[in-house]
Amino acid sequence: MAYTVPKLKDFSPAALDNAARELLSALEREAAQTGSADQRKSFRDHWLGRKDGILAQMNQLWLKAAPKEAKREVGQRVNQLKAEVEQKVEAALTKAANVTTTPSLDISLPGIRRQLGAEHPIIRTMHEIVGVFKNLGYSVAEGPVVETDYYNFEALNFPPNHPARDTQDTLFLANQEAKPRREQLLLRTHTSPVQIRTMEKLKPPIRIVIPGKVHRNDPPDASHSPMFHQVEGLAVDTNITFGDLKGTLDHAMKALFGASVRTGFRPSFFPFTEPSAEMFVSCFICGGSGKRGPDPCRPCKQTGWIEILGCGMVDPNVFEFVKQNGYDPEKVSGFAFGMGVDRIAMLKYGLDDLQLFFQGDVRFLQQFA
Ligand code: PHE
Repeated sequence: MAYTVPKLKDFSPAALDNAARELLSALEREAAQTGSADQRKSFRDHWLGRKDGILAQMNQLWLKAAPKEAKREVGQRVNQLKAEVEQKVEAALTKAANVTTTPSLDISLPGIRRQLGAEHPIIRTMHEIVGVFKNLGYSVAEGPVVETDYYNFEALNFPPNHPARDTQDTLFLANQEAKPRREQLLLRTHTSPVQIRTMEKLKPPIRIVIPGKVHRNDPPDASHSPMFHQVEGLAVDTNITFGDLKGTLDHAMKALFGASVRTGFRPSFFPFTEPSAEMFVSCFICGGSGKRGPDPCRPCKQTGWIEILGCGMVDPNVFEFVKQNGYDPEKVSGFAFGMGVDRIAMLKYGLDDLQLFFQGDVRFLQQFA
C-alpha cells in the first residue's frame, strides 16, 4: 500500500526522527518499484504533488499541527527532510528512466532457431584420412603455411636451380631480395616441409601425419586450384622397408574407400624420396572395369585406376639435414607419402567441379550438413 504521512501526537525530536526514518524507507521501497513512464509520473505526484503529495501532507500534519513551543525545531527538521526527499525522488526518476528504455523481455515468445553449422566436406575428408592413421598409432603434426625456401625446398633435396622446383611454382613474399635464398618466404607448395620441422624436434622412431593447406601456381579450373589441401605421412625407424609402405597405404585405402579396392604402384620421381612411386587405387566408381554400363567411366578416364598419392622411401640426403638429431641414414630408414585431400573429397562425393568447394554457395554446402 502506498505510504501516507501519519498524524503525530508526540513532537519530540526522537518521535520526529522515527517518523522521518519510516518516511524515507517508504520512499526507497516505492522508488525500487518504479519503472515505466506511467509509474514514474505517479511516483513523482505521490511524493512531490503540490496539493496532496507527501511533502504537502508533511507541512499540514507535522509542521502546522505542531504545538507552538515545538514549531521552531519541527520546522527545521521538516525543511531538511523536504530537501532530502526532493533530491532522492529526482535521483530515483533519472535512474528508472535510464533502465526502462529497453522493452521488457517476453520469455513466453518462441525462440529464434539458429542454423547449425557443419564441417566443410574437405575438412571432413581430411579428418577421416587423419583418423585412419591415428588408428594405426600415428601422431598429428602441423606447420606454417608461409614457409621458408629452406624447409619447402632445400632441406627436401631440391637444389637451388633444380627443375623439380618448376613443378611446384608458387608465390614468394615481396621485397626479400636482400635475404639469403634459404630464408626467403613463400606459400608452401606441399606439406612435406613439416617432415623436416618434425624431425628437427623429435628423435626417431616417429610416425606422423600432417594435414594442411598448400598453394601452387595453378590457375583454377574443374580439377585445379591455386589453394588446396594435403595429408602428408612420415614413418622413420630402424629397418623400415618399401613393404611397410605398401602394407600401410593399402590398409589406409581400404579403410577410406572400402575393403574391395586394390592398390597399385608406378615408379615416379620426388627429390626427397628414393625410390619414389605414385599410388593408384582401383576405381571405386566403376569397380576397375573402366565402364559404367555402356558408358565410359569418367573419374578414372576409362583406365580402371585412380591416382591418389605420391610416396617413397625417405632419401638419405634428406636425413643428412637432420642427422644431428638421430637420423643417421646408416641407421634409420623411413617412408613418406602425400595425398591431395580435395581430389579425394571430389571422388568420395562424386563432384565433377573442384571449384564448388571454394565458392561458398550455401545451397551446395548445405547438402553436407
Ligand atoms: N610432396 C609431394 C607433392 O606434393 C608428395 C609426396 C609426399 C611425395 C611425400 C613423396 C613423399 O607432390
